[in-house]
Amino acid sequence: MTETEENTQRIQHTQKMTVLVTGATGRTGRRVAEAARAAGHTVRAASRSGAVRFDWYDPSTWEDALRGADAAYLAYMPDVGAPGAGETVGALARRAVELGVRRLVLLSARGEDQAEPAERAVRESGAEWTVVRASWFAQNLSEGPLLDGMRAGELVFPADEVLEPFIDARDIADVVVAVLRPDSGYAGRVLEISGPRLLSFRDAVAEVAAAAGREIRYVAVSAREYGGALAEFGVPAEETAFLVELFETQLDGRNAYLSEGVREVLGREPRDFADFAREQAEAGVWKG
Ligand SMILES: NC(=O)c1ccc[n+]([C@@H]2O[C@H](COP(=O)([O-])OP(=O)(O)OC[C@H]3O[C@@H](n4cnc5c(N)ncnc54)[C@H](OP(=O)(O)O)[C@@H]3O)[C@@H](O)[C@H]2O)c1
Repeated sequence: MTETEENTQRIQHTQKMTVLVTGATGRTGRRVAEAARAAGHTVRAASRSGAVRFDWYDPSTWEDALRGADAAYLAYMPDVGAPGAGETVGALARRAVELGVRRLVLLSARGEDQAEPAERAVRESGAEWTVVRASWFAQNLSEGPLLDGMRAGELVFPADEVLEPFIDARDIADVVVAVLRPDSGYAGRVLEISGPRLLSFRDAVAEVAAAAGREIRYVAVSAREYGGALAEFGVPAEETAFLVELFETQLDGRNAYLSEGVREVLGREPRDFADFAREQAEAGVWKG
């Protein structure tokens, strides 16, 4: 019996796996790691500064992270649609398959044409793959680069009045862990997942402000104005150009619809933005 066949038998018997989680200190990866541990899996929490060292841009870090894992959650940095993502994700996915990592779940984004090369690379890697296309995360407003603006009382963002069904990153994690299992029935599937309610960014900021009991303004700017501000902050020209294109397309109304993936996989409603806002406000995240 080969090592892969032995692993398959063990997983079928125990339903427990060793799961490599990339981006494990980030918004989704941290929660995927928590949910996988809660499900009884052994987690390799990987990132450049994580318990397991892993750098998408340094292939010499891949082998130790992958070897002996049964499944992997792939969150590509800085974005699944960034230039070069297809090549890098493809190389990692093929190496994973060579090392016996059978299940790969790629985090992608709804309506992001730029993500097609990374999605295709995973589909063609020879792995049992699932692509999870998520809507905008609620946690974009509580963790990461937008938090400073929220705390300062003003979110400047190029989303105009477009509607978006913000998803709670905990739901992404629950879906990822549910579909990771080899017998989940989701291998070979592209799943679209979103929150349960369409909100404009102005609505979302207003709900946060109400929950936090303070004033936070939403200021809509064009993607080009936003790109100009990023450039002033020293974001490299290539990254700025990618982000401007991403915002111009992602936030043009194409994603103003709800997706059924959370209900389909988990058999329950997605968490509502209001619950996220209340919980994070209680935790003091948006204190000035
Ligand atoms: N934000 C959204 O609304 C949204 C929606 C749909 C899809 N997505 C996709 O979600 C992904 C981002 O996931 P996230 O928001 O959970 O991440 P995140 O919060 O931005 O965190 C980044 C994580 O990746 C690690 N990291 C950064 N650079 C790395 C590198 N070169 N090699 C390896 N690890 C690296 C970081 O840890 P270290 O610093 O320790 O390395 C951290 O754990 C992107 O692919 C994006 O396209 C985002």
